[in-house]
Amino acid sequence: MSYPFQIKSIEQYHAAYKKSVADPEGFWGEVAGSFYWRKRWDKVLDWNFKDPDIKWFSGGKLNITENCLDRHLGTLGNKPAIIWESNDPDEHHRVLTYRDLYQKVVQFANVLKNNGVKKGDRVCIYMGMVPELAIAVLATARIGAVHSVIFGGFSAQSIADRLQDAQSEFIVTCDGAYRGNKDIPLKSVIDDALVQCRFVKKVVVLTRTRIPVSMIKGRDLWWEDEIKKVETMGNPDCPAEEMNAEDPLFILYTSGSTGKPKGVVHTCGGYMVYTTYSFVNVFQYNPGDIHFCTADIGWITGHSYIVYGPLCAGATSVLFEGVPTWPDAGRFWDIVDKYKVNVLYTAPTAIRSLMSYGLGPVHSHDLSSLKVLGSVGEPINEEAWHWYDENIGKGKCPIVDTWWQTETGGILISNLAGVTPSKASYATWPLPGIQPVLVDESGNELEGNGVSGNLCIKFPWPSIIRTTYNDHERCRTNYFATYPGMYFTGDGCLRDESGYYRITGRVDDVLNVSGHRIGTAEVENAINMHAGVIESAVVGYPHDIKGQGIYVYVIYGNTHGDENLTRQDIAQTVSRIIGPIARPDKIQFVSGLPKTRSGKIMRRILRKIAEGEIDNIGDTSALLDPSVVEEIKKGRL
Ligand code: WTA
Repeated sequence: MSYPFQIKSIEQYHAAYKKSVADPEGFWGEVAGSFYWRKRWDKVLDWNFKDPDIKWFSGGKLNITENCLDRHLGTLGNKPAIIWESNDPDEHHRVLTYRDLYQKVVQFANVLKNNGVKKGDRVCIYMGMVPELAIAVLATARIGAVHSVIFGGFSAQSIADRLQDAQSEFIVTCDGAYRGNKDIPLKSVIDDALVQCRFVKKVVVLTRTRIPVSMIKGRDLWWEDEIKKVETMGNPDCPAEEMNAEDPLFILYTSGSTGKPKGVVHTCGGYMVYTTYSFVNVFQYNPGDIHFCTADIGWITGHSYIVYGPLCAGATSVLFEGVPTWPDAGRFWDIVDKYKVNVLYTAPTAIRSLMSYGLGPVHSHDLSSLKVLGSVGEPINEEAWHWYDENIGKGKCPIVDTWWQTETGGILISNLAGVTPSKASYATWPLPGIQPVLVDESGNELEGNGVSGNLCIKFPWPSIIRTTYNDHERCRTNYFATYPGMYFTGDGCLRDESGYYRITGRVDDVLNVSGHRIGTAEVENAINMHAGVIESAVVGYPHDIKGQGIYVYVIYGNTHGDENLTRQDIAQTVSRIIGPIARPDKIQFVSGLPKTRSGKIMRRILRKIAEGEIDNIGDTSALLDPSVVEEIKKGRL
């Protein structure tokens, strides 16, 4: 397979960028022409950011799975689509060729149909990183249903909230999942969630860990039994549902600055075009390369760069069930060596964690197959960037620092491996089609180089968020109202003297802990549910490995003398309500919080204290009671 839209030189990059701005419709129409459409679009783009109302490839008809699978069968049928590596290095790996994957997707699509799933229905998928997770995702898309994948680190309560918000009547899960030395009882978490969600009709359960699970008659079904039923029906086909380009493909929940996660909605046509375009160009994927993205499919990175982008491009994608440090810190390098991985795409938090184990685990493996390294999810600090460059890439692999978001669907700012220049800790330049602007607090555009401001994008690209599920107004106010006429990212950004972009982190109340987005308001809500907690405030602080850690200030009724136990109890409540990923790192008990006369918590002060900048708190004269600041400083953990 060749990619007519692949940019191969810096001159081609500049030309493509120029054309994408001068004639966006011509530009994207040409890119979209190399996909398989049942019916070509009538209009490339219709949009306004006011409502917002954004339509790409209107009138076009397609099914993304025909682009991921059917289209490749003739040429790539026997080529590996997915290589699955188990959590356990001794368990045999699995290779699914494009033909195998096609057959399994078709089978499972029929399972979904047999169980009453119809076009437009929302299917919740809560599984570990097994090939069946990708199969369930694709099978859902094949029949025109909408998947909502929930990361395995979320709690029953978080699942229930998402099931209710999306009104998902169908769930696909596993009995359990392996992650390092842990067995996670996924089905049992689902059972807890379902106590509140009586509307759920069917739960399909894949066998993975074979821990005991309760199976409720009429509702719960084993994946394996359902596949057998389909096999005996004898019709192995499942024609793909014809979708409009703007029909929803999936919902993915993500945290914002308010209490409740939002269901980001992506649609079929534009998402397909942009994820594939960015996959090929950023990583400079060439046919035959082995691509290893270490993210979980429960996050956008896994959706776009393990499943859809690579498969549309006919690539070979490695799917890894485990964690980087188990059974030892050489696990990634072991996989690179074993499958001769060419592109490794991971997160700064993983790199920093592996750095702390020294070079022993690196040197015992052959990493010479690597051609391109990638980073995603949070700013990569220079030290980690250089370590990655020198020790993993041996100074010969370009590092792509890819900036993007759940809402953007695909990578927006990044160098293109080996084609455009890289710069340590900079995402560098926008991809063709992406028009970033920096604005000051009042929304004035900051022109020229050597400026910092809030990062906005002023023109739509094909995989931009279309709506937040069931609440379009929320989408408008969150992303399109702060700076009228622009999409606001929530990130701060520097454009340096030479015009390179560097993302400096969130400017709203969203934390980035180990590359996971967590809203401070969500964590506060969970903490405030704990008996005894009167009030709380959550801020981030710099953490050597996680990037940011979660620092909590709590006003507590009575700790009964054992503060440590109370801390553990509070952390346990957060794990219960949100999930272990939001567990606080530090909990400080305070007698009051710094508030203005109108009762607003001054988070800036709390942030400074958590960051250790206690001599640089700034002006506290607006506070109702400035003396609490002294007390909080003294009690800092
Ligand atoms: C941050 C993950 C700096 C950023 C794909 C963004 C980054 C949030 C980078 C989105 C990067 C992501 N450099 N920061 N290369 N990539 N971020 O939705 O703050 O989980 O807004 O999407 O992660 O996180 P999300």
